[in-house]
Amino acid sequence: MTSSSPRTVIRSTGMSVPEKVVTNADFEAIVDTSDEWITTRTGIKERRMCAEGQNTADMAAEAGRVTLADAGLDPDDVDILILSTATPDHLLPATACETQALLGCENAAAFDISAACAGWLYGVSLADAMITSGMHENVLVIGSEKMSAILDYTDRTTCVLFGDGAGAALVSVGGGNGRGILGTHMRTNGRQARLLWRPAGGAALPSTDETRSDRMEYVKQEGREIFKQAVMCMESACRHVLDSTDRRISDIDLVIPHQANIRIIDAVASRLGVERDRVFVNIDRYGNTSSASIPIALDEARRQGRVGEGSTILMTAFGGGLAWGASVVVL
Ligand code: ACO
Repeated sequence: MTSSSPRTVIRSTGMSVPEKVVTNADFEAIVDTSDEWITTRTGIKERRMCAEGQNTADMAAEAGRVTLADAGLDPDDVDILILSTATPDHLLPATACETQALLGCENAAAFDISAACAGWLYGVSLADAMITSGMHENVLVIGSEKMSAILDYTDRTTCVLFGDGAGAALVSVGGGNGRGILGTHMRTNGRQARLLWRPAGGAALPSTDETRSDRMEYVKQEGREIFKQAVMCMESACRHVLDSTDRRISDIDLVIPHQANIRIIDAVASRLGVERDRVFVNIDRYGNTSSASIPIALDEARRQGRVGEGSTILMTAFGGGLAWGASVVVL
């Protein structure tokens, strides 16, 4: 969807990651892997891991607090709190509810969305629509993931890839001078849902001793197939949204891709014809933080001065669902 005269802006951003750093060398001690394999195949050197008792809502609330401070707003000013997560603290109620309480956003309606790594971008699109329709003024969109809670630390093909963290943006009524969310393209392919999933623990296959001993509550993925799909889908989403917003790749100051694998990022950049210095990369420090990855990257890009007011960014995400998308925003 495209807005010809955008009414919504990304007003501020924030992030929160746990203090504990887990290096590739730490994994060498628990599974049959090496720093060399992880670095060359994924680009990851280290990732963060929650401390005992630190949960998805805690990171979400901290990222939200930083974001509201960055905007100079009070918690009471938030109309809607959208939390994207694949690692809800409880299956009921939504983790957004506890986040709302921790943040003290007394006037906000709060709910979760579940679209894996693409969830935060889906949330931004939803926020844009809620504001453009005139329903709301300030929507806090948070991606928060405690991936360490759903990883199988005996499976070297998945456990080394992910990290914990949260990122957020305040999407607000605004615009003018060309600023705003120019357009978003979102797609889903549910026929391939089982390429990346957690087979047990939900209503279809509740947790039992057997599912637990078969380690079916943990993330399973077909890495090679996901890799191919990620490259194709992110390239296609970027082309769609560039077309629909009447932009060329040369108009983009910075591409902010989902951080799943440096080889995926490089392949998408090369297909789009964009040089590495216009692509933001921090996968080396955080691994794949699922739906927190783009807002963390956006916040770091802003704080490092890589982008500022008036910069045109292209964000693109891909993940379980399969669900993917891309968005062009003038900050
Ligand atoms: N250490 C050492 N060896 C390993 C490891 C490891 N951590 N993991 C796998 N290997 C081995 C495999 O067992 C295999 O060995 P074999 O040839 O003896 O069978 C060999 O390495 C090659 O395995 P591949 O799966 O072909 O390796 P590939 O180059 O495809 O890299 C990876 C695997 C990193 C998972 C890659 O496919 C990938 O990044 N895929 C996309 C993952 C992704 O983006 N997922 C998340 C989407 S986001 C979301 O929604 C949460």
